[in-house]
Amino acid sequence: MVLSELELRHFRNLGIQELRFPPEGVAVIGENAQGKTNLLEAIYYLESFRSFRGAGDRELTEFAKDVFHLRGSVKGDRPATVAAGFDRKRKKKRVSVDGNESVRISEALGRLGAVVFSPADVDLVNGGPRLRRRFLDILLSLNLGGYVGALSVYRQALAQRNAALRADAGAMAVRAWDALLVKNGARVTRVRGAWVADQAGTFARYCSAISGNDPLTMSYRPDLGGDDSSVPDEETIREQFHARLEESWSRDVRRGVTTCGPHRDDLLFTIASKRRALPARTFGSGGQRRTAALALRLAEAATIRGQRGADPILLLDDAFAELDERRSERVMTLLQEECPGQVILTAPKESDVRLRGPSLARWSIREGMIEA
Ligand SMILES: Nc1ncnc2c1ncn2[C@@H]1O[C@H](COP(=O)(O)OP(=O)(O)O)[C@@H](O)[C@H]1O
Ligand SMILES: [Mg+2]
Repeated sequence: MVLSELELRHFRNLGIQELRFPPEGVAVIGENAQGKTNLLEAIYYLESFRSFRGAGDRELTEFAKDVFHLRGSVKGDRPATVAAGFDRKRKKKRVSVDGNESVRISEALGRLGAVVFSPADVDLVNGGPRLRRRFLDILLSLNLGGYVGALSVYRQALAQRNAALRADAGAMAVRAWDALLVKNGARVTRVRGAWVADQAGTFARYCSAISGNDPLTMSYRPDLGGDDSSVPDEETIREQFHARLEESWSRDVRRGVTTCGPHRDDLLFTIASKRRALPARTFGSGGQRRTAALALRLAEAATIRGQRGADPILLLDDAFAELDERRSERVMTLLQEECPGQVILTAPKESDVRLRGPSLARWSIREGMIEA
């Protein structure tokens, strides 16, 4: 996949600009707070229709403006022109694909085939389970058909069930949601589990390649029990879920909230030491945790490649600044081998650009304005 053109209007500090990207990509160089991350955020917005930094659409709109627009054209296995806009006053988000404005956001997701690598990715390992579920949900929504639908029905059913519990609305009103909850929750659990089972080997291989053989593993911890060594089929998960809802009934009523289901899942990273496996979140060194985060993004890239049969667009946000020299060299090698497609990277200085050598075009950015 190749991003060929990008049109920006009032997104953050990027003003009004039209950019044409070389097929092999570009290194965007600029000092702090000039808009480097904003540019990658704009590009990834056209992939996911949200900020990869977790910012709301209002924050993405240029200060003192009411509306932002973005439009990008991708070439590759599924060429498309994707556009998005947000109106702060009317609180309205619009997307279009190839000019078709009636397309739903869920249908427009994942058109670019892009992956972002950011220093904040280490929070995926350091932070709470919510961030890891968010990672899985975004990845699977963008890349696996049907997931986003099941997830959104699950969330709605969960919210309604919780509202009924909080309001003390009675067993009938609460349990009216169970069928939807179980059906869609089982699908979510199954797809998450299958992805982790599928990518666990790749993840471990990437970790060894980056760290020079420091075995780290990734495993799924579904709230409904089991693990990724054997992912049950949906029917079995539905039965488990029904049984768990029965078991937790009195607790749910007491707490006014649904206490079991995939909204409590986690993804676990462990260091295989000689005597036992230790969670990387608490026992990992800084280097190990950054390695796990990078390997997770590389597994995401591998998923896109597997789904589309085309190389993803890499968006690297000053991503390797904090790695030690040897790890960062190994990451560069791995990226060259595994991700030979277009790369759009940012760096504070020319000397920080260590990928693809001098052949990669250099652009500069200052106060949001990009110069090719
Ligand atoms: N909604 C917005 N409107 C205008 N400017 C913004 C907006 N949001 C952030 N900025 C500006 O963007 C700059 C930070 O951009 P960023 O891309 O994070 O910098 P960096 O180059 O360090 O990655 C700051 O100057 C900030 O004031
Ligand atoms: Mg930045």
